[in-house]
Amino acid sequence: MTGASPSLFADLRLPVMAAPMTMASSLDLILACCRAGVIGGFQAGNAGAPESFGQWLATLDAAQADAHARGKRFAPFIINLLATASLDQGAQTARLDLCRASGARLLLTTAGDPAAIVEQAHSWGGRVFHDCTTIRHIERAVAAGVDGLMLVAAGSGGHSGALNPFAFVAQARRRFEGVIVLAGGIADGRGVAAALALGADMVCMGTRFIAAQESGAPDAYRDMLVASGTDEVVYTDAIAGLPANFMRRSIVDNGLDPDALPRPLNRFRGDLPPGVRAWRTVWSAGHSVGLIDDAPSVEDVVARLQAEFEAHHGGQGWRERLESALPERSVRRRRGRPDR
Ligand SMILES: Cc1cc2nc3c(=O)[nH]c(=O)nc-3n(C[C@H](O)[C@H](O)[C@H](O)COP(=O)(O)O)c2cc1C
Repeated sequence: MTGASPSLFADLRLPVMAAPMTMASSLDLILACCRAGVIGGFQAGNAGAPESFGQWLATLDAAQADAHARGKRFAPFIINLLATASLDQGAQTARLDLCRASGARLLLTTAGDPAAIVEQAHSWGGRVFHDCTTIRHIERAVAAGVDGLMLVAAGSGGHSGALNPFAFVAQARRRFEGVIVLAGGIADGRGVAAALALGADMVCMGTRFIAAQESGAPDAYRDMLVASGTDEVVYTDAIAGLPANFMRRSIVDNGLDPDALPRPLNRFRGDLPPGVRAWRTVWSAGHSVGLIDDAPSVEDVVARLQAEFEAHHGGQGWRERLESALPERSVRRRRGRPDR
């Protein structure tokens, strides 16, 4: 990778990551996030076939080199990969080979056991964070040697956990000295400051960035985010198989009764009428939807977050904390004994 920053976090403007999200995480959104100074997340599958994923990586690397050549910031991006065994292994291998070839610096694994991906990523100097919705997930991820934990707490958009963030972050901190990212219900700078006070190093925001102009969401999705309130978020396994948060208005628009949803077919699929699809036609949002009043550009979102964060936190020390949680070379150790 050319033009890389000396430190992974040198170009971060504040400790925020834009979540990898089906449909919403377009290449435009990722580029806008990196240029605005927050980590841009995306699912490798969002790019389509592995060849298109390779093109996305090339575009991002070129944009980073161009930004650095002009003395501009370009925050890192993070690539979301499934870690489940039931995947198309050919595509998974092709995507990991592309990550290796481009020297991808940050990966986020979802589901399953991240150990094999951690081993590969560490061989090229990449770092791996893992999505966790339970304490068991944390223990498994720590045992796999991950560099960061993404705690998907209650109230998140997408597949949401059900744990309270106070209890969740504190227990993650007892077990792990690496980077802790808190996701769920955060959409303003006061929330970022609160997450750091809880013991997290960084936050992940999804719902806030779906409403950004550069996201791949249709305008009607943005309008619904602005119009909806937190009381209208429905936590159900009926749409996507696993429990996830969806907007009540979108469930109704798809001809379904939010109060009488069908049982899901399995852990990955709802029993939905033809043409009705989780994420693409039934739109997701987390509890932070009640904080979304507009649909500005990513740059405007980030400038606002920075001003709010600095007003409530002072804006000092977070980068050093992140860097010490992710030193150049380290062996993660469990902290104390897990309390069961
Ligand atoms: C539409 C949508 C799709 C998502 N898809 C993914 C995904 O593919 N992989 C993932 O790790 N997280 C995914 N997430 C969850 C986010 O990474 C993040 O945990 C969540 O959005 C944080 O909560 P917030 O929306 O309240 O900010 C998704 C979230 C949304 C809203």
